[in-house]
Order: sequence, then structure tokens, then C-alpha cells
Amino acid sequence: MKMVTLKINGSEITAPEGMLLIDACEQNGIHIPRFCYHEGLYPGGNCRLCLVRIEKNPKPVPACMTRVVENMVVTTETPEIQEMRKAILEYTLIHHPLDCPICDKAGECLLQDQYMKYSGADSRFHEQKIAKGKLYKFSERILYDAERCITCSRCVRFTRDISKSNKLGIIKRGDRSYVALAPGDTFDDPYSYCVTDICPVGALTNRQFRFKERVWNLKKTDSICAGCSRGCNISIYHKNEKIYRIIPRLNKDVNQYWMCDFGRDYTLLHHPQTRLTGSQIAGKSVKYDLFLSSVAETLKKTGSKTGFIISSHATNEELKEAQKLCNKLMITRIYKKSDRVWQPDSKEIEKDSFLITSDKTPNLKGVSHYFPSAKAMSEFKADGLECVIVWGSGAAAEKLTGLKVIQLSTMIDKVSTQANWLIAGRLPAEKSGSFTNLDGKVQSFKQAIQSQDTFDDLKFLSDLIEKI
Ligand code: SF4
Ligand code: SF4
Ligand code: FES
Repeated sequence: MKMVTLKINGSEITAPEGMLLIDACEQNGIHIPRFCYHEGLYPGGNCRLCLVRIEKNPKPVPACMTRVVENMVVTTETPEIQEMRKAILEYTLIHHPLDCPICDKAGECLLQDQYMKYSGADSRFHEQKIAKGKLYKFSERILYDAERCITCSRCVRFTRDISKSNKLGIIKRGDRSYVALAPGDTFDDPYSYCVTDICPVGALTNRQFRFKERVWNLKKTDSICAGCSRGCNISIYHKNEKIYRIIPRLNKDVNQYWMCDFGRDYTLLHHPQTRLTGSQIAGKSVKYDLFLSSVAETLKKTGSKTGFIISSHATNEELKEAQKLCNKLMITRIYKKSDRVWQPDSKEIEKDSFLITSDKTPNLKGVSHYFPSAKAMSEFKADGLECVIVWGSGAAAEKLTGLKVIQLSTMIDKVSTQANWLIAGRLPAEKSGSFTNLDGKVQSFKQAIQSQDTFDDLKFLSDLIEKI
């Protein structure tokens, strides 16, 4: 890659030839304000907040539309440029409503933040503001407020260049323009929530999160999505052990700035009907210590006549511990399965050429690494076995008839009704560890929330090894 040398505000810098000036500045600690520019999108160049001066150029130029060349001389901080920024901010605010106290974007709104940083001037506009539509239902997931929209076109470029659904466009002209779908259409794009992340203001809102919490009240924990084998990097926003929203976290090698809508569905975690809790022996709740001793005694007796059906939701650390347990008990009949499979009647996408993969679990790759000789669940036979440990959901319950069944799982499934020993494990948001994604990338994540009456899978396996 050819590097060029240029001068910004009197200091010499080097940058790859052809890099956008706004990025070259950023890399060298000079932040240029922006609305329409987003690192993950092709530049639009329509807000003009990023104007800078380039020597010998008669007019100011947008830094997001200008590529660096050898010997370029740039100024980004002069009284003239500061005045231009103020003027653009004033212009942008002319028809903008004062919704901040009720707007979900407050606290992370580029208009709020950049007005405070680069302007702060009082409004001089005494005329009637143009009142645009407040509530366009784009879909079950997304609402659009045209009055708040600054027509930066980020959302339009996202659907054109990234998700490629081409669902959104800007219609009409000047101060009458707004974002719209084609007449009668809905915004059924599997990545639709991404437009709420990149909208610089609160014009596009996520109906899951709308009016639920102020962002500054939430804690953020970095995690990995377990919705499929892509392993998109995410941030979980939570408060009082409850998740309020999940947004993508930048990883240029995995998901860039994006994630699918399915991966943001955290309702499963707060769903008491399907979540398993506590520890039970023959359907009766028992204390953890009693449960542990009972399982250990059973396994000591069944030893190598125990089968182990591994979970593809298990972390690498848990798999390593499970490997030790198998070695200690001399278990050789090991099977792997997908804990979750795509359902054709669901609204979920099976796979696409962007992020969504057909393997709907996060760590089948890890299972194959730690248990290279594990057979597929379809090959499971009860012959010669006395007992089976079923880890996670999705095992073929009908094949387990006649066996003692020990299940460690987060969700209730068919196996749970026939398990003699049943213990509730934890979902990825409730534990820490690492997953190996489909490309073999090992990615670690931290625990975001604590769940009631569940047990850490890793601790359970370690305790079991110690007891046997
Ligand atoms: S809805 Fe948001 S992202 Fe889309 S054009 Fe308006 S301000 Fe930009
Ligand atoms: S593509 Fe897969 S890993 Fe990424 S957010 Fe969607 S479900 Fe999660
Ligand atoms: S950020 Fe450059 S024109 Fe909008």
C-alpha cells in the first residue's frame, strides 16, 4: 500500500494513498464533526458538517468526500471553519423539534453532542417550523419520526449497500424531504435494527427499546452473539439483571459494524415458560449439594457405560472441563448435536451471503476441536449404555428410552420431561467464556447479568469431577 505525506494543521502525517481525509484525520487524533459520514458506509457527502480547507482549493471541501494525496495541505480548525460548522448546525436545527427529553437517542445523539461541542448558539429562527410526520410504522420493529430526521441518508445507504434490501429512499425536496418506503411496503429487512444504531438522531427507533430506559442508566458489557456460528461481536446494555438492548460492536474481521435482527432478541432470557430453573431429581427440587452427590454416585457406577451428548452452546472452557470428565469416567460414547436448528415456519432467515449462517449455534467448531471423534446425534444408539448425560437442548428424546438421563440445560425440551436428574445451566449473557466461530476465530465474552436459580455449567462440571 502506497503511503503519502500530507500536512494537517501544520503537522506532517502519513496515510495510505486514497484514504478519506476524515479517516486520515481521525487516525491522527483530529476529529472532524460529521452527520452523514459513517465508517461502515460509502460516504454520502450531504450534510456538509465536515467541511475543511485544502490549500489552493478555492472553496471548502467535505473531508468525507476527499481522498488524501501527496503534499496535500489541510486546515481543520480556523475561525472560518468554526463559523461554517455553527452555520450548518443552525441550519440542521431549524426544523428539528425539541424532543430531547423524550427522545430515545438522547445521550448518544450526534446532533445534541455536536451542537454542544461546536455551537451552543441560541436559535434565531422565529418562523413556523415545518411539522412533518411523527410516527411512521416502518415495520413491527422500526418506527420513523420524520420531524427528527436530518436526511443524512445513512439509513438509505445502509439498505442500498450493506443489507441490499433497498427498502428505504428519501422522497420530496429540500425542507419537505423525508425517508419513505415504497407505497404499501414494510421494512422487512433482516438487518433492519442496524438503521437505528447508525441514525445520528432519534428519527429511527427500535420498538423493543423505545421509551424503556435512558441509555445513561444502563451498563454495557461486551459479548458475543450466540444466535448463529458467525459470532457477531455485541454489546449488551442492562440494568438490575435485565437486558434492555443489544447492539453490534465493531470487529472488522467478523461482523464489521453490523448484526442481524434475530441476534438482538433477548426475550428468551426473560421468558419463564421456556427457561429451566433449579435442580431436580425425579421431578423433585433438591439442593445443589444433594443433586451433585446423587449425580456423582450414579456416574461412578455407570462409568464408561455412560454416553455424553455435547452442547453446541457450551463455551470452550466448559468443553475442556467436559473432556476431563469424560477422561475420568472413561466415557468414549460421545455425540454432538446442534442445540438449535432453523425452523422453516419461523420468521428467522436460514442463511444469507452476509452474516447469517445456517448453523444456529455458536460453538459447533469448539465441540469438534475438543471432541474430534464425537459422532453425530443421528448415530446415537442406547445399546451398551446405562446412562446418558444430555447437555443443552435438541437431543433426540426418543432415542434415550430405557437410559438414566442426566440433563444440564437452559431450556425445557422433550428430554427434560424424561430426565431423572435435571439441572438449569446458564445462557451466554449470564456467564463468561469463549466461542469459536465458523472461521475458527476464538472470541471471548464477559458475563452481563446474573440469573436466578441457575448454575454455572463450568462450576457444575468441575464440582462433578472433584466428587467422582
Ligand atoms: S432517518 Fe436517521 S439515518 Fe435516516 S436519513 Fe434520517 S437522520 Fe439519517
Ligand atoms: S448473524 Fe448470527 S451471530 Fe450475527 S447477530 Fe445474527 S444470529 Fe447473531
Ligand atoms: S460528514 Fe461529510 S458531508 Fe456529512
